[in-house]
Amino acid sequence: MREYTPQTITDAVIEQMSTTSDPRMKEIMESAVKHLHAFAREVKLTPAEWLKGIEFLTKVGQMCTPARQEFILLSDTLGLSALVNIMHDKTKLEAATGASLLGPFFRENAPQLEPGAQIAKETGGADVALYGRITNVDGAPLADAEVTVWQTAVDGRYDIQKDAEGMDCRGVFRTDGNGNYLIRSVRPRGYYIPLDGPVGGMVLAQKRHGMRPAHIHFLISAPGYRELVTALYIAGDPHLEDDVVFGASGDLVAHVEDNDQACPIKAVPSIHFDFSLSREAEADKLGGRVGADPGQVTARNGKATAPYGDPPPSAAQGPRRGFFGSLLRGR
Ligand code: BEZ
Ligand code: FE
Repeated sequence: MREYTPQTITDAVIEQMSTTSDPRMKEIMESAVKHLHAFAREVKLTPAEWLKGIEFLTKVGQMCTPARQEFILLSDTLGLSALVNIMHDKTKLEAATGASLLGPFFRENAPQLEPGAQIAKETGGADVALYGRITNVDGAPLADAEVTVWQTAVDGRYDIQKDAEGMDCRGVFRTDGNGNYLIRSVRPRGYYIPLDGPVGGMVLAQKRHGMRPAHIHFLISAPGYRELVTALYIAGDPHLEDDVVFGASGDLVAHVEDNDQACPIKAVPSIHFDFSLSREAEADKLGGRVGADPGQVTARNGKATAPYGDPPPSAAQGPRRGFFGSLLRGR
């Protein structure tokens, strides 16, 4: 019989998995096991801590519904989504507009709207116009490109946090013959990511503020070009430098202008931003959609529940009891 040691156990697992027929799956799983074992050795993980981790991940899974993706939130708050995003963005053929996080609130089937239509049911007088051009990297206009936008409502929350079925502050627009898009919306505000679940427990136990800077999401596509998932971050927001999900970047900061005469919608503040798309590589065609609907992952898993993710009144008062809190305090 073999005697496993903290070192040889890793090789034994990799050897047993060596029959995996899909080469990419084999590569990913081998590396995952190597790093997972190295992590456990490095921190000298105890059985009680291992069980705490299992309990935490179980709660993350139990929190997922068709309207709530707690695993994406976990990936986002650990910087994994941003890392995957940055790596993917570096593989584009041309130096086009940078990508940003898809986040857990994208939904397919947003309403198709005419140029200039208002996407928010209520604005409380804080209307904002969004306009600009979609071009290739040489500045040639992309006519009839599809521009999907989504953002928080005037109360700083996404529609599906309040009502799993209804749609608000979302729309699908098309560019005109000169590549112009035009959207009317409400000025976004910075907001708390949902902190009422296990991921929120982790974030608060780490004494992080849990906020994202104000932003507007865009998913832009045109035939022959790489789909662009990105977001515009509003200049002046205090959390541009410490976004809890590491999505904000300098090249995507947009200014709200009070009196931009060039904006086709008059007498409201406006954001002008031009986006460029990279030509599509062969690998892009095979790689699956970047802008896939996270709701599909849990589509058959229980009920959509709402509302969720109220900003916790305790957010400013320090950590609640959560996975890391209880782990650090012992059982
Ligand atoms: C968002 O963009 O809205 C978002 C992204 C990651 C986690 C939570 C929210
Ligand atoms: Fe967002």
